[in-house]
Amino acid sequence: PYPEYDQLRSRSPLLHEPRSDSWMIFDYEGVKRVLHDHEAFSSIVAPPSSQTSQWLIFSDPPRHTQLRALIMRAFTSRAVASLEPRIRELSHALLAPALERGEMDLVTDFSVPLPLMVIAEMLGAPVEDQPRFRHWSDVILALSHTTAGGEEAARVQGEFRAVTDEMKVYLRGLVEQRRVSPKDDLLTRLIEAEVDGERLTEEELLGFFQLLLVAGHETTTNLISNAILCLIENPDQLARLAATPDLLPSAIEEVLRYRSPVQAMWRVTRHDVQLHGQEIPAGKMVMPMIGSANRDPRKFSDAHRFDITRDPNPHIAFGHGIHFCIGAPLSRLEARIALSAFLERVKGFQLASDAPWEPRKAIHVHGPARLPIRFEPGR
Ligand code: HEM
Repeated sequence: PYPEYDQLRSRSPLLHEPRSDSWMIFDYEGVKRVLHDHEAFSSIVAPPSSQTSQWLIFSDPPRHTQLRALIMRAFTSRAVASLEPRIRELSHALLAPALERGEMDLVTDFSVPLPLMVIAEMLGAPVEDQPRFRHWSDVILALSHTTAGGEEAARVQGEFRAVTDEMKVYLRGLVEQRRVSPKDDLLTRLIEAEVDGERLTEEELLGFFQLLLVAGHETTTNLISNAILCLIENPDQLARLAATPDLLPSAIEEVLRYRSPVQAMWRVTRHDVQLHGQEIPAGKMVMPMIGSANRDPRKFSDAHRFDITRDPNPHIAFGHGIHFCIGAPLSRLEARIALSAFLERVKGFQLASDAPWEPRKAIHVHGPARLPIRFEPGR
């Protein structure tokens, strides 16, 4: 999408899309303003009756403030750091079967299962339940990439309702277990979290569980796949990283900028808003294009160059302002561990086919659907 972004951005940082009557914002400053100005740009984009209206990401203050404070009680940096040994174990276990073969589809074999396993782990769900997590996450994602109306949308919505009921029963079971015997895990902390005498309701817990599956899965999957893709496309940067492994955190930041896993978000104007000298009327959908902002040449020198030593790198891949991604420390940790395990074990990797990569089919996210690679076997 990058040449298109450039073209559109240089014509005008704002584009009105007549079919959907929505506004797309392409420049760094504009995108940052939309994300930051929650007073003018509301996050309540889901119809109030839908299950997704319970999600933190689709809420505004004061409810957002309260909900986020409760969740942050549980989602502490200590809780995230404690996952490190387990993420390492899972990364090596996922790579092992491919090592002898000398080939794998990076996406299916590695970057899809890892974040899913980590979420299941965080909730304290047993490993054998993971196929269910996979199914739930697929259905929730399908919801996000089908357009409104039509038979297909009705089918997906029906499936989503069924999955929501299933998840409710499942989560209730886990919550009961934790009430009887609390554990040192995220779920126990979520149940026990209290702010101003309030706790999360069952609906809110379920909403957060669903949001974790979407927000914490597809995004991190794409970060890991995009990182390997960027390194294959830029052998000089791969050589540099191999010579200086300490550059890995900085390389991950550059992947977040260069191929942002989340390309766009949604907002709706609360009242008429002036942006770059144009007026967006009240009640309109606005899409801050994060992927384009992160390639804005007015903010980033040599914006289309993948440079793992870029410094400073003020990308907004995790958003900006009150909705800033709460999973940022976790996905940085996952990416760091997954990539260092991969780079340590997989030598001489290259694309196994010359076919151009196909994007994953979810709206607003950016990453390959498959990434078949070959490498030196037997390690
Ligand atoms: C919010 C990106 C991983 C949970 C956001 C937002 C972005 C984002 C752009 C802001 C949305 C907005 O302004 O409307 C990413 C990227 C990730 C990632 C690029 C990985 C590379 C994760 C993970 C989790 C997570 C691993 C959880 C385990 C959330 C939640 C919010 C959020 C709960 C909503 C925060 C709020 O509304 O206050 N993420 N995310 N994300 N993210 Fe992430």
